[in-house]
Amino acid sequence: MNIYFKKHLANFLTLLLFVSVSLFAYSQDGEKLFKANCASCHHPVKNATGPKMQGVLQKWEDNGEGELIYEWVKNPAELYNSGKSKMAKAIWDWSPTVMTPQGHLSKDEVKSIFAYVDAYAPPVAADGAAANDTTYEAEDESVSFWWWIVIGLLIFVLFATFGVRRELSEVIAAKEGAEVDPKKTFIVSARKWALRNWFVTVLLIVAVALFSGVELLGRLYQVGVYQDYQPSQPIAYSHKLHAGNMGIECKYCHHSAEKSKHAGIPSVNVCMNCHAVVHEGPQYGTEEIDKIHLAAGYNKAKQGYNTDDNGNRIEQPLVWNKAHNLPDHVYFSHAQHVHPNTGNIDCRQCHGPVQNYTLGRVSTTEEVNAYATTDEGMEKGIIQLTKPILTMGWCIECHNKKEIDLASSGYYEEIHNRLKSRADIHNNIFEDDKVTVKELGGWECAKCHY
Ligand code: HEC
Ligand code: HEC
Ligand code: HEC
Ligand code: HEC
Ligand code: HEC
Ligand code: HEC
Repeated sequence: MNIYFKKHLANFLTLLLFVSVSLFAYSQDGEKLFKANCASCHHPVKNATGPKMQGVLQKWEDNGEGELIYEWVKNPAELYNSGKSKMAKAIWDWSPTVMTPQGHLSKDEVKSIFAYVDAYAPPVAADGAAANDTTYEAEDESVSFWWWIVIGLLIFVLFATFGVRRELSEVIAAKEGAEVDPKKTFIVSARKWALRNWFVTVLLIVAVALFSGVELLGRLYQVGVYQDYQPSQPIAYSHKLHAGNMGIECKYCHHSAEKSKHAGIPSVNVCMNCHAVVHEGPQYGTEEIDKIHLAAGYNKAKQGYNTDDNGNRIEQPLVWNKAHNLPDHVYFSHAQHVHPNTGNIDCRQCHGPVQNYTLGRVSTTEEVNAYATTDEGMEKGIIQLTKPILTMGWCIECHNKKEIDLASSGYYEEIHNRLKSRADIHNNIFEDDKVTVKELGGWECAKCHY
């Protein structure tokens, strides 16, 4: 066999390794972005709140709107209103559910999302049946597992290639009567090979470093993925001004927090309670408040609402972007946590000192812990936690730490009394004289997972 051929084979394999690593990084990106931004409404191959994503790009391209699809993702309403897209109109007519604009994503990021969904294959369970949503979530792990195997194999083939080469040259050397050095071990020849083929070696090292970097970053990213996330919003609303300076209660605007799963974002009518009268702000003058009026269909000149011929208000609903997004398989209820009769937890325990923020955002563990040590924080009973907000570790840690005040909460008094009469259970739960959410079942998977 020709030595040059083998050298080229090694180069080729290295290149392959390099290319696969970069491809892997790219599709990983698409997967993460999809899961973080789209998966709450879209599934690659199933219709959910939004239609299935696989093949959508092709569909738009087939209709000559391959470029407009990026405008759609950026801002569906804007594209629809511009009237230049048949596709946007078709989807809109199919269902009037509004998709959240994804303007914070670059075109390349959206491209990587489409690359991911188009390459997505539903995992197949052992019995051959298409897997359900739970395995869709678990697929993350198995993908990188297979990549490790492929890369391991490639490295093995590389080593084997120059192993064979060494033996060949020994045979040739022996034939020519030269002495074969028995100390010429694999390591020694590998080092020689590496020096001679320095370019390939450097490539190899870079590829491995890149790969482990991507892996590591990916893991870190997953842990703290949501912390400090603040999406852009249609109006420069400020919590500091409203909840801080003016002291408006959180629940005045997020009024469903105590009653339902969602805290909710206030409708423009809530803003109009004041902004029908307040037309100017200290920082933006009339600019930002005019946007409220436009959204509500309010004409401040004639101090009334614009109506169409049928007397209906002409509104342009505001589309706020959500900062907090738990995956679909998690169940979380605000009412359970904030109602005075149940958790009775202050909003700032989970959202940080929002009265100092402008737009809403996902707070960080550090901010919450710093707030917990202030007088106000202590008065509100904020406890310090260590895990990043919105991760499972965060929910679990608090459920283990947060004491439930059985004595003062009427809701639990009865349970408490019942438990007291059952010494066997009572002693178990009250061994340390305090009751945590965990002890009432807050660590059971099914409590938080659908
Ligand atoms: C809050 C829910 C939600 C999120 C988040 C969301 N979408 Fe959508 N998406 C929808 C809905 C609902 C529709 C259908 C639109 C309609 O009925 O007006 C849609 C439609 C689409 C369409 C057009 C589908 C078709 O069949 O032509 C594309 C493309 C799309 N979304 C891409 C994305 C991408 C990419 C992301 C993430 C970056 C994303 N969406 C995030 C809800 C969402
Ligand atoms: C125990 C922690 C916790 C407490 C206490 C809490 N929240 Fe939340 N909040 C969350 C989580 C987790 C989400 C994300 C929910 C999701 O994505 O389904 C969230 C989401 C939100 C949202 C986004 C819209 C929504 O409903 O999903 C708003 C607004 C909000 N919270 C406001 C509040 C306000 C106001 C309070 C106090 C009255 C409060 N929260 C108390 C954990 C908490
Ligand atoms: C309880 C009354 C009240 C409500 C409700 C209210 N605002 Fe305001 N808002 C005010 C007042 C008062 C000012 C002017 C403050 C000043 O001049 O110092 C203001 C100012 C503003 C400004 C101008 C800020 C600046 O610095 O120029 C914006 C933007 C704004 N509000 C948005 C909203 C939005 C969006 C809502 C609904 C989600 C809302 N407001 C609800 C009372 C309210
Ligand atoms: C005057 C109305 C108003 C008041 C009062 C108010 N908010 Fe908000 N809040 C909003 C609006 C509007 C948004 C959406 C825009 C944004 O993200 O800032 C929002 C967003 C949020 C979000 C981000 C939700 C998400 O996931 O996108 C959180 C968390 C939040 N508010 C918590 C609070 C807390 C805690 C308080 C009390 C300290 C409070 N809010 C007081 C109007 C209000
Ligand atoms: C700051 C502390 C804290 C955090 C963070 C927290 N919880 Fe809780 N959670 C509680 C408390 C306290 C209760 C008990 C409420 C009651 O008394 O009913 C509770 C109860 C629950 C329950 C009902 C448990 C039962 O036994 O019925 C569920 C489900 C739940 N939480 C889900 C979550 C999820 C999901 C998250 C993370 C996204 C989370 N919680 C984050 C404090 C917390
Ligand atoms: C107190 C609530 C809570 C309990 C109890 C809980 N989880 Fe979770 N779990 C969550 C939250 C919230 C997430 C999403 C975290 C994120 O997005 O980073 C999650 C994520 C996961 C994931 C990762 C899925 C993904 O999106 O990557 C797995 C797997 C999981 N949970 C399994 C379990 C198992 C098994 C149990 C029981 C031993 C359990 N969980 C108990 C709240 C909980």
